[in-house]
Order: sequence, then structure tokens, then C-alpha cells
Amino acid sequence: MKKNFSKCLLEWYDAYGRDLPWRFKGGAHHNPYVVLVSEIMLQQTTVKTVLSYFDRFMERFPTVEALAGADLEEVYLYWQGLGYYTRAKSLWQSANIIVHDMKGVFPRTKQDVLKLKGFGPYTVASFMAFAYNAPETVVDGNVIRVISRLYHLTKTPEEQMGQIRAYAEELTDQKRAADYASAMMDLGATICLPKKPACGICPVSEFCQSKNAIDVEDIPLKKRMLKKNFEGYVYIIYNDKNEVLIRKRTEKGLLSGLYEFIWSEKPLFDNATDTKKSVSHVFTHINMNLKIYTVLQNETYQDGFFVSKDALKNYAFSTLMQKVMKKMKA
Ligand code: ADE
Repeated sequence: MKKNFSKCLLEWYDAYGRDLPWRFKGGAHHNPYVVLVSEIMLQQTTVKTVLSYFDRFMERFPTVEALAGADLEEVYLYWQGLGYYTRAKSLWQSANIIVHDMKGVFPRTKQDVLKLKGFGPYTVASFMAFAYNAPETVVDGNVIRVISRLYHLTKTPEEQMGQIRAYAEELTDQKRAADYASAMMDLGATICLPKKPACGICPVSEFCQSKNAIDVEDIPLKKRMLKKNFEGYVYIIYNDKNEVLIRKRTEKGLLSGLYEFIWSEKPLFDNATDTKKSVSHVFTHINMNLKIYTVLQNETYQDGFFVSKDALKNYAFSTLMQKVMKKMKA
């Protein structure tokens, strides 16, 4: 099955594979920096979202030296809205490791790639496959779905990851690992869709045990995730000069390094005015809802500081806090 499967898949990819700005079709990418940036961006973010960030980022930081020499604060600005902000810091740290510790030479072995920041087994495999066409198997969400359906594996991915990985490795094309990894992702993203997969035009349907099966949409089975609801308050504190108070989050944890307005689960001010507006945002494990209040006061609050409204654009805010700003403008 192996030979024929990858042959069919790669023929399809050569004709219909997506053109993506970070992608090189036909082997190893000529620029490992492009692979580094794109793989970190694509770690927990969809292709569609990354497409709206990637070019702008590369224009500002076109080389690993440019990124290493930049201020982390500015890197955060270019990451603003992409989420999982520790990735921005890891990427910047990795650029510095390459430029300073590795003398500007990109790591070429898995062992050395692991010396960079923010790399786990998935990213190491994808970096090696895309940057060097190394025979690594890339297993992302799309690949999990494709493999689970090919072999009609009906449990959750967590319950059968060993099996999925073994099948994925067995099928991997050893000579064209980079194209093969892209092809599997494209198949999952354009044909083997979570809902209504296009089995009729699938290039590998003859190998698929779930082809046109009535339960195909239930493969892979989803683990139910319990999300917590978080209700709280966010305060636009402004002074007589009409400046607003912001503070920087610590460098660790959720949304680390970004700026924010003061917010809390409990009310913090007696003299606050209810704007009757609120913002909601869904994080991986939390549904967050914050009621927006304004407060007029001239003293700063905790580690916050006042900035003019025009200067807000110079600070990187999370999507949640940007929603607060939009609501207040509306
Ligand atoms: N997800 C992770 N890496 C990717 C890539 N190189 N292309 C498309 N989706 C991806």
C-alpha cells in the first residue's frame, strides 16, 4: 500500500498543492529562516490566520539577523493578535541563539534544533522535513484526521496516538518528505475536511477504509473539553489629561509580555462607572467575559502607567484587550 499511496498523494500534490508564501514545492526550502518563522507561527494557529501575519513579519524581519537584532517589544507588536505570545519570545530567542551561539548557521540535526527555544517533537520534525527534506513524519491535526480515516480508527486521537504515529511513519515518502508532509496537510485542509469530506475527488480514496462511511465525520472522535467560564471586570482608568492606564503582564504565563488594562474577577473600584458594554473572548480552556467600567483618577494603580490614547498603538495588546479598545471607540 505504501508505495502506491504516496505516489497517488504526491501526483495530486504536484498538480493541486496549495501555494503558500512559506512553502517551497519540490524539496527542501532554500531558506531555513522562512521555515523557522512559519512553523512557529503555524504551531497553534490556522493557515488562514497566519497568512495575514506572515508577509508583514517577514518584511520587517527579513533575516535571522534582523530578528535577533530587534527589540522583543517590537516583535510582540508584529505578533499582536496571533495568540500564544510565548512563541514570539521563543522565536526571538531562537534567532539570537542562531546568530550568537551558532555563528549564524542554522542547526542541521534534530539534536541541534532542540537547542532552540519553543521546539517540541512536532516542530522539530516539521522543521527538519521542510528545511532539509529529512525523512521525518509530521503529525499535525490534519494528518491525525487523514490517518484515522484511512485506517478507520474510531477512538479519540489521545487514545490511539501510538497507532496513528506508526501508520503515519510507515506511509511517509522517504525521498520527498517535505512535499509529502505538505501534501498530507493539504489533503486534510482541502479534501479530507472535518465535515463533509470530498471523498468523490480524493486522490487516495482507494486506500481509505472510511471512504463514504456514514460515520466519517465522527473520525477522529473528539474529546469533550470542559471550558471554564470566567466573569470579571476591566477598568479603563483615565486621568485629567485624558491619558489611560495600562500595565505590562509578566513574562511568564498566558499572554505574557503583552500590555493590558486593569482587570479582575472581583470589583476593584467603588467610584467606577458602568459603561454597560462588555467583551467576550474564548481561550483554549476559558470562556472569558469582562464588563467594561471607566474610572477617573490621577494616581497610577499598582504597576500601571498612563499613556496618551495616541500612544496605545505602540504597545502590543492581546486580542481581548483590543476588543476592549474597539468597544470603547464604538
Ligand atoms: N501547519 C504546520 N506547518 C504547516 C505548513 N508548513 N503548511 C501548512 N500548514 C502547516
